[in-house]
Amino acid sequence: MMSWEESTKQKMLHLQLPTDPRWVDIAEMNIKDILVDHAYCEQKAASSCISLIINFYDFEEVTEVLIPVVAEEWGHFERVIEHLNKRKFALGKPRKDEYVIKLLDFVKKGGSRQQQLTEHLLMNALIEARSCERFKLLSQQIKDDELKKFYYELMISEAGHYVNFIELARKIYDKEKVNLRWQEWLTYEAEIIKNLEIRGDRMH
Ligand SMILES: [Fe+2]
Ligand SMILES: [Fe+2]
Repeated sequence: MMSWEESTKQKMLHLQLPTDPRWVDIAEMNIKDILVDHAYCEQKAASSCISLIINFYDFEEVTEVLIPVVAEEWGHFERVIEHLNKRKFALGKPRKDEYVIKLLDFVKKGGSRQQQLTEHLLMNALIEARSCERFKLLSQQIKDDELKKFYYELMISEAGHYVNFIELARKIYDKEKVNLRWQEWLTYEAEIIKNLEIRGDRMH
């Protein structure tokens, strides 16, 4: 059996561009902003799964797989809030999420419901993969022991979600087509990461 580190590393290899190592240094210096942005990432993750459940209620597998994911993301949200409270940081307003806005541009409109659902599942899978990569960096490099452990746990959890989304897409739609489209998404995402400004107040 592969260890978690090994299997996560393998999965992360799918990302075509690793995060710029400067990001984690800047993030650590701006941990308050990172926690705030992270809280909203968890909220958006939960909300987006709820939307998928509602919009694709006719696909049984969607509710089956995504209801537990909603619960986990909401649990993550609660835990980030605890970390904020403990440090007496306020949640504050959500930030404009340029990464997600750019990903949304790539979602193909039209096609069958299976195709539409697949687009959203692949987009979510990518966000999970990138988040997982960033949690890994945080867990390896920041000095705060408590946060280190927290990010390590999240890295594992988000890797699980990544698998949930990809496998769900492969069940819903033609596996070969899903794999081809996944490659296109990966290439597009690498381009986004290359062009996004590195900032210490964003998870992405
Ligand atoms: Fe999460
Ligand atoms: Fe997740």
